[in-house]
Amino acid sequence: MSLEKLLAWIPTGSPDEALAREIDFDRLPSHIAIIMDGNGRWAARRRLPRVEGHRAGIDAVRDVVESSARAGIDVLTLYAFSVENWKRPAGEISTLMALLKRYLRLELNTLLSNNIRFHVIGRAEDLSADVRQELQRGMAKTASNTGMLFNIALNYGGRTEIVDAVRRLVQSGVPAEPIDEARFSQFLYTAGQPDPDLLIRTSGEMRVSNFLLWQIAYAEIWVTDTLWPDFRRHDLLEAILAYQKRERRYGGITSAPVALGAK
Ligand code: IPE
Ligand code: IPE
Ligand code: MG
Repeated sequence: MSLEKLLAWIPTGSPDEALAREIDFDRLPSHIAIIMDGNGRWAARRRLPRVEGHRAGIDAVRDVVESSARAGIDVLTLYAFSVENWKRPAGEISTLMALLKRYLRLELNTLLSNNIRFHVIGRAEDLSADVRQELQRGMAKTASNTGMLFNIALNYGGRTEIVDAVRRLVQSGVPAEPIDEARFSQFLYTAGQPDPDLLIRTSGEMRVSNFLLWQIAYAEIWVTDTLWPDFRRHDLLEAILAYQKRERRYGGITSAPVALGAK
């Protein structure tokens, strides 16, 4: 089913078709999280201002969101703006926010036609009113969709998320049952979602930059030198294939077939 949906979108005889046919659709990562990095370097290589890299990065977002939905991924999380990214120049930040609003307006139909549910994780309350309004609209219009959950991490920090979870936990009063990992994770922004199986980072940096610190405990990490604006379906399929070759051990001595790519 997923192969068919993907192939319907891939030119026959293209290298992407061969890649798609190699994938085992019964063992897909349930949740893919991506640190979209390298927009500034993409622009610098072309002697363009950094914001042109962000603009070009939108094409990669479009491609990856639809490819993931067609492939049958349950959850896709894209890291779009960290709590640390406020250190950047005001002009760059306002362009990023404007691009986000534009993306949501232009892509709503694609989200709807692919049955994608849009969701924001992060301290969205600190974003400006116009951005919040667009985000709310995107979430409301796609709320009844039943296909892929598309999380966008905005004003997101892994440590901030854990602190926010503790605050909510404290505010919720004395718990009826003792706190364990499963109960604690219900206070995170990603409550009810599976943890990422596959974490992708573009542009070659070997760090997690405060992304989903709790949730990536056992994620398989795949780093590519490709800069985010150049990332396409082809790269996503490569990452999924690499993931399917990994042995996930979860601290044991053999891979646990049940847990591998558990859905
Ligand atoms: C990722 O690209 C986009 C965001 C963090 C918003 P960068 O802007 O970090 O690009 P580089 O890392 O400087 O190349
Ligand atoms: C991570 O990229 C944040 C996002 C992709 C939104 P950064 O470019 O901000 O990370 P560092 O500064 O290289 O660690
Ligand atoms: Mg960067």
